Amino acid sequence: MRGIILAGGTGSRLWPATKAVSKQLIPVFDKPMIYYPLSTLLMAGVSEVLIITAPSSQEQFQRLLGSGHHLGIDIEYAVQNHPGGLAQAFLVGEKFIGDGPVALILGDNIFHGPGLARHMAHSTPVKGGHIFACVVPQPQPYAVIELDGGGNPVSLEEKPGHPRSHYAVPGLYFYDNQVIDIARSLTPSPRGELEITDVNTSYLERGELHVTVFDRDTAWMDAGTFAALTHASEFVRGVEERQGIKIGCVEETAWRLGRIDDDQLARLAAPLTGNGYGEYLLSLLDRGEGSIRAHQ
Ligand code: G1P
Repeated sequence: MRGIILAGGTGSRLWPATKAVSKQLIPVFDKPMIYYPLSTLLMAGVSEVLIITAPSSQEQFQRLLGSGHHLGIDIEYAVQNHPGGLAQAFLVGEKFIGDGPVALILGDNIFHGPGLARHMAHSTPVKGGHIFACVVPQPQPYAVIELDGGGNPVSLEEKPGHPRSHYAVPGLYFYDNQVIDIARSLTPSPRGELEITDVNTSYLERGELHVTVFDRDTAWMDAGTFAALTHASEFVRGVEERQGIKIGCVEETAWRLGRIDDDQLARLAAPLTGNGYGEYLLSLLDRGEGSIRAHQ
């Protein structure tokens, strides 16, 4: 399965911080925001990634992540000329997707937890779409999904004033190839965007929308506002300093999945020695864990 990271948009909710630099490149604690969704896609088994950016920021992403070969993956880039909604990703990325399934992750969504890889392993749809639901106290800023007693989806609403449940839909979606035609058939919403919720509603109407509710040890954060960004940074810092592990460390994820070997991890660490990030990468080798196929 191929994967798309949507890192476009104007980031206007974070102006002036994101006026000159893309939101998805600013740090969440100790690494650029995009490391987190990239790491999540790797954990989902994706090794061919398309990063969609605003025209003015493409070169910065390329400088950060290049071809992806240093991580044992392939990264391509495309631009979204105007922020026309999340579902536009499937039109911009049509050629990249080809005739297979695709995963989409939003560049400002951060996931963490021991169950994440397991959840995703069961999510590649043979037919239809597979999305997630996460209980949040205030679901109004998100898509909200209503489930019946059997956990099947009943209704979906984008940013409802009066949510029918506390299940927010995070920005991680798995679709079969129908998604391209569905995206093509959409008309822009009142806010002028091709809505991902309309894609999901289309799958729901076909009876082909599958939903996994994250269990309570899976954390999800959307770092799109100053409060959420600060919260995400504090969360990452808390886990990293307390447990001595890193979240969203793409070099580590690639190494743990066996996409790069010990020598390559050491090469990636070399220019970073003297700072905590490089020391951490080297410490992974010292811990003697080897390139095990462990998901974290
Ligand atoms: C977008 C989607 C929404 C989803 C959210 C997750 O919202 O439109 O359905 O729940 O991402 O982060 P936006 O970031 O556009 O407010």
